[in-house]
Amino acid sequence: MSESVETMEKEKKLIAVCGKGGTGKTASIAMMARALVEDGRAGRLLLIDADPAMGLLSALGVSVRRTMGEVREEIIKTAKRGKEEEKAHIGDMIEYMLLEALTEADDYSVLAMGRTETLGCYCPVNSLLRGSIEALSKNFDTILIDGEAGLEQINRQVVRELHSLLIITDPTARGLETADVIQRMIRVDNIMECQKLGLVFNRVRGNEELLRDAAAKLDLDIAGMIPFDEIITEHDLIGRPVTDLPADSPGLSAVRELIGNYVLA
Ligand SMILES: Nc1ncnc2c1ncn2[C@@H]1O[C@H](COP(=O)(O)OP(=O)(O)OP(=O)(O)O)[C@@H](O)[C@H]1O
Ligand SMILES: [Mg+2]
Repeated sequence: MSESVETMEKEKKLIAVCGKGGTGKTASIAMMARALVEDGRAGRLLLIDADPAMGLLSALGVSVRRTMGEVREEIIKTAKRGKEEEKAHIGDMIEYMLLEALTEADDYSVLAMGRTETLGCYCPVNSLLRGSIEALSKNFDTILIDGEAGLEQINRQVVRELHSLLIITDPTARGLETADVIQRMIRVDNIMECQKLGLVFNRVRGNEELLRDAAAKLDLDIAGMIPFDEIITEHDLIGRPVTDLPADSPGLSAVRELIGNYVLA
């Protein structure tokens, strides 16, 4: 009985973006959140801002009380103070602080990783935090992760297994070079497991044939093509959340297709 319930249960979807700086990772995640909430397929949705610059928060119009970077600092301080009775409660502390860091908006919850202040190797702390995020993620059906250019932060502090990894690129040779570096990190260095690895062209203004050839050279499936959309730039310029785009925005329509035809296909 429990087995059949399990097989009926929807598969949890962890979806992350990466790619060269400024290619549209954050805008894409914000639009994906909007599209997934609208079509009701997200279930319980968690958004993780894994970029220390925390651009996703403004793209969503959300603020947080505490970042995971701050949680990490507290734990390192407690561990350094060396009081045995405090150290024994580090697990409970993490759980409590994680709940404080989890911000609930109307349609989704948000967790911001924030900055890592204390440098040096704190692998045990990182793996404690990763473990607690993994435990927390059990409460959600879909998790969208906005990353930096590379995958280091996600890999070290968030998760090591993804359903889909979307490499976002603009239609430039430099964007595609970064995409190539990332696909090697996955396919050759195996730094992370992912079922789907797709390329997303963003700010597209024609030349689709050339873009298809470029993706084929990298042996990457095209997960989607998002056109240049003036309204997205405008929203970012005036500080209006990307999630407030008009329903017929060309960028948002392309992201709906990306979700339906690639991520959830
Ligand atoms: N499809 C689009 N059409 C027009 N402008 C876009 C589009 N996608 C993103 N932009 C604009 O491009 C800029 C960079 O986008 P965004 O911040 O999402 O990139 P990013 O990859 O997250 O950057 P970073 O690497 O700094 O985190 C923003 O000004 C955004 O408004
Ligand atoms: Mg960003």
